[in-house]
Formats: sequence, C-alpha cells, structure tokens
Amino acid sequence: MSCADRNGDSSGIAGPGPLPLVLDVNGTQHQIMVEPRTTLAEALRGPLGLTGTKIACNHGACSTCTVWLDGTPVAACSVLAVEVEGQRITTIEGLAQPGSLHPVQEAFIAHDAVQCGFCTPGLVLSCAALLARNPHPDRSDIESAISGHLCRCGTYPHVIEAMLDLSTRQDPDHG
Ligand code: FES
Ligand code: FES
Repeated sequence: MSCADRNGDSSGIAGPGPLPLVLDVNGTQHQIMVEPRTTLAEALRGPLGLTGTKIACNHGACSTCTVWLDGTPVAACSVLAVEVEGQRITTIEGLAQPGSLHPVQEAFIAHDAVQCGFCTPGLVLSCAALLARNPHPDRSDIESAISGHLCRCGTYPHVIEAMLDLSTRQDPDHG
C-alpha cells in the first residue's frame, strides 16, 4: 500500500499527518501511527517505547542508532519508518534470549567494553551481526565491522578484545 493510499489521498501526496503503519519489531507486529517524516529511530523510541536504540548525531555519522533490518545493521536515524514496513527489525531489546544475554553482551561485560553505555547497543548489534556471518573474525574483520561507530569513552580496545575472545571460542551456531 502506498503512503498516499493509506492517507485516502488521490493526489499522490502522503502526509503531513500520521499514517497507519505495521512494523515487525523483534518478532512482534506493531500497529502505529506516524508522520511520513518519522525516522525508524524515532518510531522505535517514541510510539514503540524501545529506548535501547539511542540517537546521537541523527545524521548517519556515528552508528549509535544501529538496528538490524532483515539481519543487516543499519542506522535507524537515516531510514524512514514508512520505508521498512515488511522488513524484520531487530533492536537491542530483541537480541538476548529470555534469561540469557547474547554472547556479545556477555563478552562486553567480561572485557569491560562499556563505560557510559550510550554507544553500546549499536556496537553490540554490529558485533553480533559480524559473528552471525563470520563466527571467527580476526582483528581486521572486527575493526571493519565497528569502523562506523563513534565511542566518546574510547572503549574500542576493549570491544576488540571482547570480540577476539569470542572469535576463539565462538560456537558457529551462536549469533
Ligand atoms: S544517531 Fe544515527 S548515525 Fe548517529
Ligand atoms: S561507552 Fe560511552 S560513548 Fe561508548
């Protein structure tokens, strides 16, 4: 359905008022109303209340807002919510299993890879995506996977150590 159809507007112009939208987030279908200008990050944090997705630069430059779209990390501040209907969205809230953290989360804790934590959800999601496609990444693979992430606290060496640790003992089924 086009945005214009949702609006009941034959002009071909959607909005500026809210449009009905169904987003598949962490395995659950959510019906929301958002203006077409609403970014995915804003929709997650606002109507859906999933504030684990952080917004920092809001310009696609820091990767703080990283989520997965169909398993691929993307900057949620640079995607409109209306663009991602029908895709599987995974946020940091959907990564862990009930009662057990994701191995990347465990490794971040074990290697002290978290300080203020603001960049952490995005970093964890990018690292988890890397492990899902490559269970045994080397330092270069890890540096490449996190290269777009800005961490003002400078946790990079700890993040790399956490990932190298996982790389040596990672079960290929994890991630
Ligand atoms: S907040 Fe989205 S890339 Fe910086
Ligand atoms: S832990 Fe503070 S910005 Fe990364």
